[in-house]
Amino acid sequence: MNTKLIEIENEKDEAALAQAAELLQNGGLCAIPTETVYGLAANAFDGAAVARIFEAKGRPADNPLIVHIADLDMLSDLVREVPQSALELARAYWPGPLTMILPKSDRIPHEVSAGLDTVAVRMPSHPIAAAIIRKSGLPLAAPSANLSGSPSPTTAAHVVADLRGRVEGIVCADDCGVGVESTVVTLCTQPPRLLRPGAITVEMLEKVLGKIDVDDAILHQLKADAKVSSPGMKYKHYAPKAKVILCDGTCEGYIHYVNTHADAATCALCFAEEAAQLSCKTLVYGSLADDAAQAHALFDALRQLDAMGIQIAYAHAPRKSGVGLAVYNRLIRAAAFEVVQV
Ligand code: TXA
Ligand code: MG
Repeated sequence: MNTKLIEIENEKDEAALAQAAELLQNGGLCAIPTETVYGLAANAFDGAAVARIFEAKGRPADNPLIVHIADLDMLSDLVREVPQSALELARAYWPGPLTMILPKSDRIPHEVSAGLDTVAVRMPSHPIAAAIIRKSGLPLAAPSANLSGSPSPTTAAHVVADLRGRVEGIVCADDCGVGVESTVVTLCTQPPRLLRPGAITVEMLEKVLGKIDVDDAILHQLKADAKVSSPGMKYKHYAPKAKVILCDGTCEGYIHYVNTHADAATCALCFAEEAAQLSCKTLVYGSLADDAAQAHALFDALRQLDAMGIQIAYAHAPRKSGVGLAVYNRLIRAAAFEVVQV
């Protein structure tokens, strides 16, 4: 398939927006930038188009997709009811990196919800994403625009590397600001439950919702027979070809551990403050106290490991609170839950 690369500088480029919208209206797949990661979009009401997303990504059929909207009026077609808590969350954090799980309407094809009776909805704040939704006049089902299992794409180049030849279009814009996928919270349980951490933190959710549950699967490996509240939790994720070992502990502990274990095929995925003291190759992902910078840099760093031909990477774990919880959640999956205390 010939993939159209649609260069766009900002949301005022009507010609580029029209190209993306036309592909989507005709049942095509088009990757678009969002503030979190690039997404691979299709018309959420077109089951056949959505089915092609799974094919293009190699995504397991039982892993449902997020539907992206540009304003609150679009929500009523997607869900059976809008609880008060959803309106309050929307007022606080939409548009933005927050996905809500709600009871789905009959208009959502089963390809989107993967057979569940709920639907995930998010209103992205990226002006180009919002403009493409508006131009097409469609709610867009969009998972991250990577091949299934590999790190989510935070640059247009990542998307081109994974999906060129597999989709009709890729909208090529700047790098994504947040860098990790949206926070996912379900409002279908009482109390609401965090299913995936992101830039909208537990503290921010609790400010609106009161006490919420945090799903065990966020920081722990699910048992083989466990019931999952979000199918994405059970799959291998974000994994570079390199073996990643997550190192939990202080900077001193981490530096000592790496310097006594590393060899020529090793890389240390470290914080800026640590790099000069490490005796092997290093990749910096943000600084120690800046979890937003860590989130922004993480997926590109994981992709760089493979470009460097690294076999073993020792990643220094971030804190498990604030946006750090989202970074830790991605890294522990990249490490296939292999954690050493340093
Ligand atoms: O930031 C993001 O959320 C990006 C951008 C493109 O918007 N999208 C994204 O989509 O990360 P994806 O498909 O890679 O992750 C969606 C996650 C999966 O873990 C999936 O299992 C979960 O949301 N999910 C979707 N629908 C669900 C539902 N009805 N119930 C529970 N979990 C659901
Ligand atoms: Mg994904």
